[in-house]
Amino acid sequence: MLEEDIAEILIDEKTLQARIRELGEQISRDYQGKRPILVGVLKGAFMFMADLIRHISIPHEIDFMATSSYGAATESSGIVRILKDLDTPISGRDVLIVEDIIDTGLTLDYLLRILRARNPASIRVCTLLDKRERRRIPIPLDYVGFEIPNKFVVGYGLDFGEIYRNLPYIAVLKPEIYRGNE
Ligand code: IMP
Ligand code: MG
Repeated sequence: MLEEDIAEILIDEKTLQARIRELGEQISRDYQGKRPILVGVLKGAFMFMADLIRHISIPHEIDFMATSSYGAATESSGIVRILKDLDTPISGRDVLIVEDIIDTGLTLDYLLRILRARNPASIRVCTLLDKRERRRIPIPLDYVGFEIPNKFVVGYGLDFGEIYRNLPYIAVLKPEIYRGNE
């Protein structure tokens, strides 16, 4: 059972959903009269994206990118590979990147540089989680769900070794689960 591997629930389902509703309402206000493209970064952001857009009341489109960072399981290398690019041209469009978590910031920094080169009208970032103490590159974040401490978390789209994405909350695993994988 997956739940047996959990040491602590950091953000429970109710708290998550209440904050996601607020973010959706704020985005709806900020993009009033516009038709933004929300770009979800796979795989981690899939669940957040699905819940977030249910609280967005203005017309918008969605698209996805998939990236993979080389290196160990719980550490970003800064070398990012694009596994799936956007289907939509974004020149002249209002782009809102939807991320699961910003850790070192290396992945998002790379992504922002690629997308800015395509001349969008605007580009903003919405992340569910912000592990601010780990930041190695300053990244302007427009919408942040929660700031979290420097702990490796799983659930609500986030994985450890591709498992635990389905959990409806954000949790920390028992140390023996991570051991040998870092
Ligand atoms: P960054 O490039 O260091 O900011 O890391 C970005 C990516 O690393 C995120 O989009 C996640 O896929 C992954 N990541 C960073 N921290 C965690 C975590 O605590 N749990 C699960 N994945 C994480
Ligand atoms: Mg990610």
